[in-house]
Amino acid sequence: MNNFVYDIPTKVFFGEGQIKQLPMLVDQFGKKVLLVYGGGSIKRSGLYDEILELLPECEIFELSGIEPNPRIESIREGGELCKLQEIDLVLAVGGGSVLDAAKSIAAAAKYEGDPWEFVLDRRLITDALPLITVLTLSATGSEMNFHAVITNFETKEKLGTGNYHTYPYASILDPTYTYSVPRNQTAAGTADIMSHTFENYFSSTQDAYLQDRLAEDILKLCIHYLPIALEEPENYEARANLMWAATTALNGMISVGKGGAWSCHPMEHILSAYYDITHAVGLAILTPRWMGYVLNDDTVDRFATYAHNVWQIPFIEDKFAMAREAIDKTYQFFADSGLPMTLPEVGIDETHLEEMSEKVAPLLTQSYVPLNAGDVLAIYQACLTPGFTL
Ligand code: NZQ
Ligand code: ZN
Repeated sequence: MNNFVYDIPTKVFFGEGQIKQLPMLVDQFGKKVLLVYGGGSIKRSGLYDEILELLPECEIFELSGIEPNPRIESIREGGELCKLQEIDLVLAVGGGSVLDAAKSIAAAAKYEGDPWEFVLDRRLITDALPLITVLTLSATGSEMNFHAVITNFETKEKLGTGNYHTYPYASILDPTYTYSVPRNQTAAGTADIMSHTFENYFSSTQDAYLQDRLAEDILKLCIHYLPIALEEPENYEARANLMWAATTALNGMISVGKGGAWSCHPMEHILSAYYDITHAVGLAILTPRWMGYVLNDDTVDRFATYAHNVWQIPFIEDKFAMAREAIDKTYQFFADSGLPMTLPEVGIDETHLEEMSEKVAPLLTQSYVPLNAGDVLAIYQACLTPGFTL
């Protein structure tokens, strides 16, 4: 296991009714609040009204309309607003896009140059306004990490930024706020949780026993609870477990002590930067094809462990057969959840595949199985038609 420091300053308030902690949390930083939210789901659910009622003494400024795949233009606007109005803290209410935008806005408020500079180089963030988040969608883990993924459609780039300064001070995680998440977003969110888990699980570090068993349990949890959440959107147990799994999958618990770069996320981020697709739909399409592509003599043991520990596939001598069955089951699980499983279904054809492969390949030289542009292109091409041959 590699050396690590585990230091996450975010306070988590988990469970139904935890919103009552909000006034106490806000009070620590001041009265001028920038409320950041998305396209209106929090108004439809009543959460917006609830929050305003809880903060009668605050002066609330609003930045609404944060889009999925949040854009650099929104960050510029939010940063300027914070400076102009001398905002004391940022309050993000929504899914990962809103949280990521709010983190970047909190940093932009304390940054003199153009925010895109610190997206390109996260070390430029040296301060940020305090951030409190109220999560409404289980997926990204943004509620308990410092990452913020921001898109620049002009340059066709979608990049991660953030550092210690962009951790939320506190996050309120009330599973009942996810009752209204529609089927497609519920399934996509779970695919994202699983993908974060895979990105850490498939790593050359083989002696991080605790992290790997926890990762397997997160995967089993998703496989068990997603169908329940799809069937009964107001099932508290399912929503609560998915919510905490999302947080745990990307708050360092399963990644500390492990190494290597991620694989499917860079390949997906460039798809989103070109085509503005839903992040986790791209991941669901890519993941089984990537698994099939990187299955080889060096990786087969890990895939067989995945097969056995997550899908209960009995150990047999032919580990490749075990691995193939597990990859098949992974594909089928996403397909059964109603997720699109080909690129054409989300509006992507061959046009830019080669260009995107070239761009993303430099990010994949340190991944579980290093991939060059030709490898990435082969994986993208396998995503053009349903199913695939292993
Ligand atoms: O905008 P509103 O109206 O709120 O609607 C949203 C949006 O349309 C809706 N929604 C959210 N909560 C809802 C709800 N609808 C009904 N009821 C609710 N309770 O869902 C739609 C998608 O929201 P979004 O925030 O985009 O989804 P998600 O949480 O999946 O975030 C995706 C973004 O996070 C980035 C992705 O790249 C993408 O930009 N990521 C962030 C990471 C991080 N910070 O650590 C890591 C991830 O790998 C990922 O890259
Ligand atoms: Zn993700």
